[in-house]
Amino acid sequence: MKILTILGARPQFIKAGSVSREIAKHKEIEEIIVHTGQHYDANMSDIFFEEMQIPKPDYFLGIGGKSHGAMTGQTIEKIEEVALKENPDWIMVYGDTNSTLAGALVASKLHIKLAHIEAGLRSFNMKMPEEVNRILTDRVSNILFCPTDAAVQNLKNEGYDNFDCKIVKSGDVMQDGAIFYKNLAKKPSHFTLHTDNFILCTIHRAENTDDENRLRSIFEALEEIAKQKQVILPLHPRTKKILEKTHTSHSHPNLTIIDPVGYLEMVWLIDNCSLVMTDSGGLQKEAYFFGKPCVTLRDETEWVELVECGANVLVGADKGKIVEAYKNHSPLTTQHSHNLYGGGKASEKIIKELLSYE
Ligand code: UD1
Ligand code: UDP
Repeated sequence: MKILTILGARPQFIKAGSVSREIAKHKEIEEIIVHTGQHYDANMSDIFFEEMQIPKPDYFLGIGGKSHGAMTGQTIEKIEEVALKENPDWIMVYGDTNSTLAGALVASKLHIKLAHIEAGLRSFNMKMPEEVNRILTDRVSNILFCPTDAAVQNLKNEGYDNFDCKIVKSGDVMQDGAIFYKNLAKKPSHFTLHTDNFILCTIHRAENTDDENRLRSIFEALEEIAKQKQVILPLHPRTKKILEKTHTSHSHPNLTIIDPVGYLEMVWLIDNCSLVMTDSGGLQKEAYFFGKPCVTLRDETEWVELVECGANVLVGADKGKIVEAYKNHSPLTTQHSHNLYGGGKASEKIIKELLSYE
């Protein structure tokens, strides 16, 4: 069996590590990796391939830093060339990025079977580029690997039982990764941790970065919180560029802004912080995997089970709500630790399903 795996952005590299390790156990599977180039800085791309022991990409398409249309269109064209040359049995895509959508469209046009990992998630916010990408990708997938019960239910609500596709609740490949990489975690040494009681924060979601009022409100809240507790903020290049352009203030000495870190350092930071504040999808779950409460800087989330069980609170970009949520947060207790994401067996289940697919 030949699988053409399409990767492009940071969260996909992290997810692919676990699945590639599982594939490597099967001599009967050949994995060809295509890196679209959507993320291209060394600390947004190369470091993950090195640290997570993902095989070097067989193809690098070099399409990054472009508008949605240009990126998606050019990526489709290049993936199509590779797919025609390699003639794979499956194209495998992860998540909801422009690279995901490009891979999905190529598979559907060339009649190559498509496997979507992280299928069925919905924010019900059609202004999010990710929501459009995931809905279109799901619709043309032959096999949909859902991380959660809610994801399966979303597909059923949309009538997927009537479509010619297979829905599998696989669990979440990010939990496989969190378990595997925890033992390899590395304490970052290039900045000073003032205490061992810090907040870990990330901000990169378009709805926050591209709205000057939301971005300013979030940074005002972080500066307020930093008066009491150190906030470590590994800054996504997208946010960095916009902060510079909009001159958004971020100067409090306890608001420690650093370059993006590799996953092994990130895992250490998650494992050692007292609270996560983020608009990232992946980090909301990682907070939970490592037993940390999460304040989510968005108006909605695809990971609804975390809000339902009290591990996560949604505050949007409102300064007052963010500061309030910081003041009210309390450590997670065992009542939060249900097995919501499959317990680290997702990659194994995915590969087993692909091998037995008819
Ligand atoms: C993309 C995904 C988003 C995901 C995120 C993970 C889409 C529509 N969005 O958002 O779902 O959560 O990746 O991080 O696919 N840039 C650099 N260097 C890099 C990468 C990006 O400078 O290595 C800058 C470029 O100016 C680029 C901008 O960041 O134009 C945005 O990058 P892009 O890949 O378009 O979107 P993300 O915000 O990273
Ligand atoms: N991450 C990382 N280094 C950083 C910031 C994030 O390794 O400096 C990891 C984070 O732990 C998570 C993944 O990147 O596993 C999430 O990616 P991101 O927030 O970029 O995207 P999303 O999950 O929102 O799509």
